[in-house]
Amino acid sequence: MIKKDTKDQIFETARVEEVVGEFVNLKKRGKDYLGLCPFHNEKTPSFSVSPSKGIYKCFGCGKSGNSVTFLMEHEHYSYPEALHYLADKYNIEIEEEVETDEQKQAESEKESLFNLTEFASKYYIDQLFNTEKGKAIGLTYFKQRGFTEKTIKKFQLGYSPDEWDAFTRYALKSGYKLDYLEKAGFTIRNEHKQYDRFRNRVMFPIHSLTGRILGFGGRILSTDKKKPKYVNSPESEIYNKSKILYGLFFAKRKIIDEDNCFLVEGYTDVISLHQAGIENVVASSGTSLTEDQIRLIRRYTKNITILFDGDEAGLKASFRGIDMILEKGMHVNIVMYPPGEDPDSYAREHRPAEVREFIKNNSRNFILYKANLLLKESEGDPVKKASLAKELVNSVALIPNQIDRLAYIKQCSSLLDMPEQALVSEMNKVTRKRFKQQFRKEEAEDIPEPETAEAEQQEHYDPLDIKPQEKELIRLLLQYGNEDLIFEQEDQYGRKQEHSVKLAAFVLNDLRADEYEFTHDKCKSIYQVFIQHNDKGTLPNDREFMNNDDEELAKFAIDMVSSPYALSENWEKNRIFVNSERDHLKEAVISALFALKARKIEQMIKENQQKISRANNENEIIELMEIHKHLKAKSVEVNNKLGRIITR
Ligand code: UTP
Ligand code: MN
Repeated sequence: MIKKDTKDQIFETARVEEVVGEFVNLKKRGKDYLGLCPFHNEKTPSFSVSPSKGIYKCFGCGKSGNSVTFLMEHEHYSYPEALHYLADKYNIEIEEEVETDEQKQAESEKESLFNLTEFASKYYIDQLFNTEKGKAIGLTYFKQRGFTEKTIKKFQLGYSPDEWDAFTRYALKSGYKLDYLEKAGFTIRNEHKQYDRFRNRVMFPIHSLTGRILGFGGRILSTDKKKPKYVNSPESEIYNKSKILYGLFFAKRKIIDEDNCFLVEGYTDVISLHQAGIENVVASSGTSLTEDQIRLIRRYTKNITILFDGDEAGLKASFRGIDMILEKGMHVNIVMYPPGEDPDSYAREHRPAEVREFIKNNSRNFILYKANLLLKESEGDPVKKASLAKELVNSVALIPNQIDRLAYIKQCSSLLDMPEQALVSEMNKVTRKRFKQQFRKEEAEDIPEPETAEAEQQEHYDPLDIKPQEKELIRLLLQYGNEDLIFEQEDQYGRKQEHSVKLAAFVLNDLRADEYEFTHDKCKSIYQVFIQHNDKGTLPNDREFMNNDDEELAKFAIDMVSSPYALSENWEKNRIFVNSERDHLKEAVISALFALKARKIEQMIKENQQKISRANNENEIIELMEIHKHLKAKSVEVNNKLGRIITR
């Protein structure tokens, strides 16, 4: 075990942009780096690496992580392998840790279980080949099923005798502890007796990726409907059903070579296909794939072909499970077997070449297959057809690769005879939802659903109205424009120097630097007069506004300076300096400026969000999401400076 100190050192030293940069062409963009995502196909880069956070994230497929997880994902390294790679790269000496007693015990417990499964396997094989009953019952059964001796030996098949506790007794006599026999599931113990779990069954050992035996499946030989067809090892320290696939040990090499993995239901399907020369095949053991199992396959290939022996109703029941495979970025094909046939029976009844032909000729893309299937059902029913489109698009939207997605949309569009654009915008709805889930919750909540026309029309009151902030600044200009604001500055010798700036000059410079444009008409007029004066180094006097020919403007200016309380309903609540405003002019004016900026940013965020909810193209959404993040960061910055939360 690598010492924690060493691990910490590796994590601290590794620079994510350097680690990722060895595999991905990265370009600097601001503080971060951007490149084409190595985990899905894309033409425009959405893979972002943040040196400051030490992480990468793809806004296209959602993959994210740090230097170590990158190596694990991209290079298929194990955790220790990734750490060793980084230690090597950064010249860090790895210090190993002596295992604690508990760790040692856990390790040795695993070893004991492995020893026991190995011992059991030898016993079952011996029973099959070297006992009268084993030969007469077990071996005969396998031969009847068409398994050759070579196949039986390759898969280490065996036989458990028809006795209550033959194996338990034999194992105890050979020095194995009852405790482990129970833990590994060979022995079942109750108050009265202890007996073998596997009795009178043919035995299928289940192998780990490295070929060690994790557990067993035992198939019944009679047709007794009351007994379960298969009895399996229980979960244990070494056997975790949801994390293994039957046959993967024998298949992995071929899966890589063929760049495809066949998925079947049962032990016998795997074995029969092997015998027919098709070796890139694994079984899910009768259930739909778990995420861990999908990940296992993905280490070797992105292509999975499901050999399906159920009927259409059965296939429809597994749609959701298959969606999960799509979501992991895998390409899914499906082969439907004729009624009454399964991969095992078909392989038994046909020559290997025919089996290959059959699979090749009947392999259909899952999504298009689904489309066809649903289409048949909705024939002549436009309502059904619409919901079918939704259902389909749901599957398509799960595919991380954009090019794949669009290709599917094209095909579905012609298949359903529906406009591509309709499907695309339906899909974008789903994509948006997916983005929402990926984004931090708080941010995601800000992104509204596309608004309906009515909702937009109903919106009279605008909580983002910026006019109150504009008026407040104009009021300060009119009332105190000529006041001096005192700022402290250090000179080159570090001595504090005071200098004063007219309030009007301070406000105008700040707004001009931001190229701020007033939205309130009268504020704008007043502001422009101030600007003209400021350029000449003068200030307008009150009369210029209050006696203005423009009666409305005059009235407005008078209101401004005489009745601050009329400015906004929240005025009193917000106004902290009400009594001694003149004494705190600097704070008043700075907070007014920040309040204006904060509101402006809020407006921009809102506008951007509207764009996001209307955007019809994924790249655009990704770009707008970037803007969203940027504006959010700005908003936090301004609000921090403002020192208070904007009251809406
Ligand atoms: P099947 O009934 O298709 O089994 O179940 P099979 O392996 O093809 O066996 P044959 O052809 O009837 O001999 C598929 C898988 O579901 C699991 C097993 O892993 C089996 O391989 N299963 C099935 C159980 O675990 N328990 C059961 O009772 C039945
Ligand atoms: Mn079967």
